[in-house]
Formats: sequence, structure tokens, C-alpha cells
Amino acid sequence: MEIIIFDTQKELDAYAADLFINTVKQKPNAVLGLATGSTPVGIYDKIVETTIQNKISFSEVTTFNLDEYVGLKPENEQSYAYYMNEHLFSHIDIPSEQTHLPNGMAEDIEAECTRYETMLGDQPVDIQLLGLGHNGHIGFNEPDENLSGGTHAVKLKEETMKANARFFASMEEVPQYAITMGVGSILKAKTIVLVVRGADKAEIVKEALTGPITTNVPASLLQTHAHVIVLLDREAGRMLS
Ligand code: GLP
Repeated sequence: MEIIIFDTQKELDAYAADLFINTVKQKPNAVLGLATGSTPVGIYDKIVETTIQNKISFSEVTTFNLDEYVGLKPENEQSYAYYMNEHLFSHIDIPSEQTHLPNGMAEDIEAECTRYETMLGDQPVDIQLLGLGHNGHIGFNEPDENLSGGTHAVKLKEETMKANARFFASMEEVPQYAITMGVGSILKAKTIVLVVRGADKAEIVKEALTGPITTNVPASLLQTHAHVIVLLDREAGRMLS
């Protein structure tokens, strides 16, 4: 596991953006695994900026997002589909049919999970972007005694709903369920880039990266992967020696 700590947000964003841009430059038909949340916003801004400046084409790229809320339409501003269009897809030349998110509006959620996992099996992710939840979740894989390997539906923990409530008008509007790639699906990516910012995540960063590998801290399973790059700001990395 390679851990890099940055002094400024700008440097972290530029470094992370370059990892993705370079992947596309080397492999124009790369498969990118993407994440949402507040952490990647600056990274997407930088990817867009560099893509426009250097006229990089994403026309052959395919993307898979980690997760989506159940019950939110893509037009809903809080859906991850909306977020991705807003922050990335609408600014680059990627055809929309090559951008994939789990369909949280599917009538048969289980069938949707199977469909998504099959697509991931057919097009393995070259580089996966990941954020980290305060309880150690990745995607929406919440701490538990057991974890599902593949794409599955989850009931969100109270603490995750509270953490995400800041994006909604009220707590009642926060969806209780989501579809997420499983930890097994995530670990199949050739390279994983975990990005974490902020003092409030310093403890969980230490636990996930240096503590025991346990399903109670889903991110700790990243320790079993051969090629993980961890990008931290000073605050998030302050408990690492
Ligand atoms: C959400 C997402 C995760 C994300 C996490 C942290 O629950 N499903 O993919 O990593 O929140 O979000 P933030 O970056 O806003 O702290």
C-alpha cells in the first residue's frame, strides 16, 4: 500500500486527477471506477480542467460508479447519477451509454444488482476511485459481521444517513436503502485510489490502514489488495506514524 500525504488540497486533487488522466492516455478504452461524496469534487474539477486544456478524449472510456440510492430518479439533485453528470460527465466527451451507475429506480432491485455485477465482470475496472465513510464504509458497504462480495442492496446505517443528511432538505428525505458494489467487486479493480480528507477521519484512516482486517471496518479489506494508492491530506493522515 502506497500512502502519500499532501500539504494542500490542490496538490492532492492534481495528483489524483493525473492518475486517472494518465490511465486514459495510456489506454483510451480504460474502465474507470468512480465515487461520489464531497471528497472527489476537486478531483473531478481537475480532471475536467486538464481534459479540456489538453484535449483528451474520453470517447472510448467506460465508467462504473460504486453506488446509488434506491428510490431517487437520476433527475433528483441528490442522486449520484445527477452528481456525476454535474461534476464530470457533462463536461467530457464520454457517450452516456458508457457511463454506468446502479439503477436505484429498478423495479426488481435484486435483478438490477445481478445485471450490474455481470457488467463489471465483463469489463473489469482498471482504476477505482474510493472515498471513506466515518465508520470505515467504502461505497455503501457498511460495517457488519458479514459482507456481501458482489453488487447488492443495503440498508444504510443511521450514522451514514446522518452524515449524508447535509445534502438533503431534511433527515426524512435521506433514502434508507442503496445499491452498492460489494467489497469483492471493488477489490477486483487493478488499481485502487483511496482518497481521504479531514481531521474527523484521522482515526478511521489509522484503523483501516493499520488495524486488523475485519468486516467491521470494510475499508480494512483494502489491505489485502496488491495495488492500493492512498492519498491523504495532513489532517486525515495525522495519526499515522
Ligand atoms: C457516501 C458514499 C461513499 C463516500 C462516503 C464519504 O456514503 N456512498 O462512497 O465515500 O459517503 O463521503 P464524503 O466524501 O462526503 O465524506
